[in-house]
Amino acid sequence: MAVRRKRRVRVKKLNLAIFVLTIVLITALVTKAVKSVYTLFTTKKEPEVVEKKEKKKETKNEEVKEPTTSFEQLSYYKDTNHNRYIRYQNANPDLPIETIVTYVNIGIDNPYYTYTNKAKYLNKTTILVNKYNYLTSDYVPKNLETIPLSYARSGMKLVNVAKDAYVEMAKAAEKQKMKLVVTSSYRDYEYQENIYNRYVKSDGKEAADTYSGRPGFSEHQTGLAVDLYNGKTVYTQFESTKEFDWMQENAHKYGFILRFPKDKENITGYQYESWHYRYVGEEIAEYIHEHNITYEEYYAQFLDK
Ligand code: DAL
Ligand code: ZN
Repeated sequence: MAVRRKRRVRVKKLNLAIFVLTIVLITALVTKAVKSVYTLFTTKKEPEVVEKKEKKKETKNEEVKEPTTSFEQLSYYKDTNHNRYIRYQNANPDLPIETIVTYVNIGIDNPYYTYTNKAKYLNKTTILVNKYNYLTSDYVPKNLETIPLSYARSGMKLVNVAKDAYVEMAKAAEKQKMKLVVTSSYRDYEYQENIYNRYVKSDGKEAADTYSGRPGFSEHQTGLAVDLYNGKTVYTQFESTKEFDWMQENAHKYGFILRFPKDKENITGYQYESWHYRYVGEEIAEYIHEHNITYEEYYAQFLDK
């Protein structure tokens, strides 16, 4: 009997040992499983962090771009043109904001002769007359004077300050063996109406508009513009003369600018005219010459208040 009891006790001990071992084994397995789930969980999180970082970068880039859309920072920004700046920028996304604001101030976002204004600065050398700014039919500038015959065809008139500056310039050119002759200067409204209508008849309206101002829209009515030639070569060939080269170097010193330069047709509204010069005064002429801009751009940035 004692032997049987001993054997039963040994069997019980063995079962207990197996039970404990099983528990230890299960615990180990469960721990391992929990660890792997944890690892899986933590490694999944990493890409999310990267994504977030990338998103932050994008936001930063957008922030850097933002100031380029603030037209308000420019001294020539106009409240009233704000929506036009936005529309013009949408249509021309590659243009810098300076160009957008300048062009819209000029009126380039609208077709020629559609939105026109009465010219400001009447009887001042800063007046701007173009396809957006006109003079009334009765506008005759004050102080018109005749240019001496040595430097002009007969009966050519200019406003006195422009005439004096032109004569001084023609004399300086003469000293350098150059000859400057005015072939057209002040033209009144009716005169412009006649020549414009003549051009329309011969070339059609579309072509005429590229080289001739409609009545009221010609700068010649200001008494501040001249068409030049050298007394020999036809004025349309002025570019081929040494007098043209001299004008390129010297006109600004006497307050004159080449009014319709090459490659600026989209701004001035006219084809290149090597013979047409406009008196704007020395200071403005120097600035325009130095910065290679048109009078429209200068006016839009400094004078159109
Ligand atoms: N030829 C210039 C553009 C005018 O007619 O005023
Ligand atoms: Zn002209």
